[in-house]
Amino acid sequence: MSVTVLVGSQWGDEGKGKIVDILSEKYEIVTRYQGGANAGHTVELENKKYVLHLIPSGILRDDVTCVIGNGVVIDPVALLEEIKFIESCGIKVEGRLFISHNAHLIMPYHKLLDSISESGENKIGTTGRGIGPCYIDKFARKGIRIVDLLDRKILERKIRENLKEKNNLLQKVYDHAALDVDEIIKQYQEFDKAIDVYVKDTPAYLNNAIEEGKSVLLEGAQGALLDVDHGTYPYVTSSSPTSGGACTGTGIPPTKIDSVYGIVKAYTTRVGNGPFPTELLDETGDKLRNVGAEFGATTGRPRRCGWFDAFLVKYSAMINGITDVAITKLDVLSSFEEINVCTGYEIDGKLLKSFPTDVDRLSEAKPVYETLPGWNEDISTCRSYVELPEKTKAYLKFISEKSGIKLNIISVGAKRSETFFV
Ligand code: GDP
Ligand code: IMO
Ligand code: MG
Repeated sequence: MSVTVLVGSQWGDEGKGKIVDILSEKYEIVTRYQGGANAGHTVELENKKYVLHLIPSGILRDDVTCVIGNGVVIDPVALLEEIKFIESCGIKVEGRLFISHNAHLIMPYHKLLDSISESGENKIGTTGRGIGPCYIDKFARKGIRIVDLLDRKILERKIRENLKEKNNLLQKVYDHAALDVDEIIKQYQEFDKAIDVYVKDTPAYLNNAIEEGKSVLLEGAQGALLDVDHGTYPYVTSSSPTSGGACTGTGIPPTKIDSVYGIVKAYTTRVGNGPFPTELLDETGDKLRNVGAEFGATTGRPRRCGWFDAFLVKYSAMINGITDVAITKLDVLSSFEEINVCTGYEIDGKLLKSFPTDVDRLSEAKPVYETLPGWNEDISTCRSYVELPEKTKAYLKFISEKSGIKLNIISVGAKRSETFFV
């Protein structure tokens, strides 16, 4: 029985959803701990594809209980839509999904403020889901939480207080029309019944479950380089996707965490703005995007693509304390004659000793590459490490040595079956 945190090791979209689905066969509880509906986690079963935004990817296995932790910001509209979709696929949700009473609510003004700030200069390239503005209110101690939905009077008071300030901001600073406070109160008061059945004191629930010997998988969203503290600030999300965030985002203490699974894509992608040293702005990048179907699961935006960055993954392994690794999308590299791997960065001809998260320095950094021969054959039917071509094994050995990681799972296709343990 164990408690494992699963993190994205790069800039998100590493295939976390797929690996959560694989691992959750062995876990009783899967819980999200941060982010919100900015996430898009894909799970492809043999004949159906699911994209999950708020509900943990463990929902697709009948015997798994799912929890949305206190660190997640919840858009009730998106959540209820997702529950409806999952149920329409014949999957039971009630009784299997619990939501923290302390999770913060995404309000209509959060989405509006997200889009207004993205219409100016210095765009982050957010998903537009209201994530940043909601976490701003959380840390400014003005947020409205799931528990507030359960008392109509308290909810009304909090919405009125917030709207007074937000309408001032909208009208006076952004020259935008005020929002209708009564309409928002009415809309949010109607969520009480639909949400009530899911609300729980999740820190107590999770800690009791661990005490009883149950296994828990903590599903991170986004990725280490999008972490508000450890990522490429300010081109990050507004939460803590790294493993440390799993404790504050669920109420599970660090002393209860047994291992950290890092999900690592066999090359690198990024959505949104910000420096990306190994980005390929040529036909090789286009090929990675097309072969890897690198289009956002939440916004549909084309993902920026580039070579594997071992310097970045080594940094990510350090701040996350990665103990186990799943390498995903290895099949996407099958048709490349040669494959580059970045082993370090240079600025002004000098090799850097540590990964620069300062974006000005990172923008100046020139990747140092080693070129490996491609394997040029289909590996999507391989179901064990020994079946892989020698050149594929050499690539895996090289990237794991340079990144300081040990591979445990290899994924050679989007489907559940296209996976094996090393
Ligand atoms: P997440 O946000 O980390 O869960 O990743 P996304 O779901 O946003 O993006 C990963 C995409 O790659 C999804 O479309 C998956 O179905 C797909 N995928 C996952 N693993 C593999 C793999 O090993 N090979 C291929 N070709 N696709 C994969
Ligand atoms: P999953 O969980 C990739 C990126 C956005 C933008 C930045 C801030 O599917 O890996 P936000 O809306 O969070 O304020 O946007 O973070 N971003 C993601 N990129 N995968 C994600 O989630 C992401 N969630 C946010 O593109 O650059
Ligand atoms: Mg995604």
